[in-house]
Amino acid sequence: MIQTLKKWLVGYSEEDEQTEENETRIGELRKGPLPRHVAIIMDGNGRWAKKRGMPRVAGHRAGMKTVRHITRAADALGIEALTLYSFSTENWKRPQDEVNYLMGLPEEFLRTDVDELVERNIRVGMLGDRKNLPDHTLEAIDKFKEATKDNTGLRLNFALNYGSRSEIIRGVQRIIDDVQSGKLDKDALDESLFGQYLYTADLPEPDLMIRTSGEVRISNFMLWQLAYSELWFTDVQWPDFTKESFYEAIEDFQRRSRRYGAV
Ligand code: IPE
Ligand code: IPE
Ligand code: MG
Repeated sequence: MIQTLKKWLVGYSEEDEQTEENETRIGELRKGPLPRHVAIIMDGNGRWAKKRGMPRVAGHRAGMKTVRHITRAADALGIEALTLYSFSTENWKRPQDEVNYLMGLPEEFLRTDVDELVERNIRVGMLGDRKNLPDHTLEAIDKFKEATKDNTGLRLNFALNYGSRSEIIRGVQRIIDDVQSGKLDKDALDESLFGQYLYTADLPEPDLMIRTSGEVRISNFMLWQLAYSELWFTDVQWPDFTKESFYEAIEDFQRRSRRYGAV
């Protein structure tokens, strides 16, 4: 009853409810090595909309549904962390109305999905610079964090106003502060400690990075953290990316041989 009401009110849908076939697929994938952390560059919303004669923001709206479906799939697989690149430090260059629309999406997602995320024991987090984000966007993120803070399941992170270079510079500035104040000995700095100064301090490094839309680049995403990640690219635009596409990426990951420089 509540689900039906939600569907009418906010377009929420249970269309990907667990089928037997889906359960079997998940069961098979769970037998292999699973990535602990999957990071996704969700790309192609604008082109998806353009192809349909719609404004770019219609692509972002459609992309929100994909976020919901992929979150459910990651949760069902038992993956520890899913990080979604949602707005980069370079995306401020876009037209103001598009930026405004994107900044409204966390509130919308909160309204439609917070109950389900709480129910699924999912914990929401944000990676990125809070500075320059509008108050209403930050409020939505903070409400998400608060509502899900005691959850112990999937970590769902939104990279928002995120840029890897600025993340690294911010980390270096904090390191300098800590060295100057005597909190940190310069010689104690190593790779693992450096990682503690990044937004991802309490997350494992991504084992798998997925980018949709056919672009084969990193676009200032997790330059430090992706050092040994497996990369997977698809031509599918983000709004068309399904949980089957996600399973395909995981299956491919399971066939890779990760050597980390050894033989
Ligand atoms: C990705 O889709 C979403 C964000 C960057 C917020 P785009 O908006 O980049 O879509 P394209 O790449 O222009 O098609
Ligand atoms: C990367 O996509 C940023 C996000 C997905 C949020 P872009 O569409 O901004 O990347 P470029 O401009 O094609 O490199
Ligand atoms: Mg793009």
